[in-house]
Amino acid sequence: MKGMRLGFTALLCLLLFSLSGSISLAGDGAPKQAILIVAFGSSVEKARVAYARVEEQVRAACPGHDIRWAWTAHSLLQSGPDGAPVPSVQEALARLATEGVKDVAVLSLHVIPGAEYNVLAKNAEAFAGLPKGLERIRLCPPLLYDTSSLNEVARILAQSLPKEREKTEAVIYVGHGTHHPAGVYYPALQHYLSRIDKNIFVGTVEGDLELERLLPLLLEQGVKKVWLAPLMTVSGDHALNDLFGDEDNSWKKRLNAANISVEPIMRGLGENPELLARWVAGLKKSMQ
Ligand code: CO
Repeated sequence: MKGMRLGFTALLCLLLFSLSGSISLAGDGAPKQAILIVAFGSSVEKARVAYARVEEQVRAACPGHDIRWAWTAHSLLQSGPDGAPVPSVQEALARLATEGVKDVAVLSLHVIPGAEYNVLAKNAEAFAGLPKGLERIRLCPPLLYDTSSLNEVARILAQSLPKEREKTEAVIYVGHGTHHPAGVYYPALQHYLSRIDKNIFVGTVEGDLELERLLPLLLEQGVKKVWLAPLMTVSGDHALNDLFGDEDNSWKKRLNAANISVEPIMRGLGENPELLARWVAGLKKSMQ
């Protein structure tokens, strides 16, 4: 039922873009390839640094490809790395189809295969199945996907901490969190991180690993200082407010209230060169 609805919306989007008249159709009939980078989206200006890094790397790795962006969340008013408005996934795919593109590689910048990623996958499926539309849509897996990705991402996260952090000091990587079944990726990542470093923790802003779950553990271990970092693609609204904000309910303030000092690591995962390289490698692999 849901698939049918997505298929219908896909058709509707195609129709609207076909009628808009401003779309140039491929004249030479040659199959055109494009890359669609899909992220949750962020309204925070500074968060665009991470998106710009991603685009730079993708451009370098895939020269000559048409690169587009889409957000899985929020409205069309939001803008991309260059400040221009960014469409939804359906609009972006519909536009590519009407431009005569046949082959699209979709790079998902999602961290886990949660609700956002699954809607993206369904959209990709719906558009690939339309007559005279896109023939091939290849979707890259999100950052955390299988045991080898958990292992590798844990290694990268443990290695990319500031040099000033002492091994005895705790680190908390805070993800968005979800009530989707894919929320299990957070405790799974915790498992792989604990194998490397017992003082690195995984938390979530929403869902099962909120601070009230972690705090007793930190106090029990006598933690006095925490390095706090977003486990999110960009250091956007959740990082600035929920983690590092000056309101009493931010993670920083609540840790401080428990006599734990906080060192902020204001960097989205998209600004981590090794994680970026993983995303780009996944894209290249899907394009083979
Ligand atoms: Co949110």
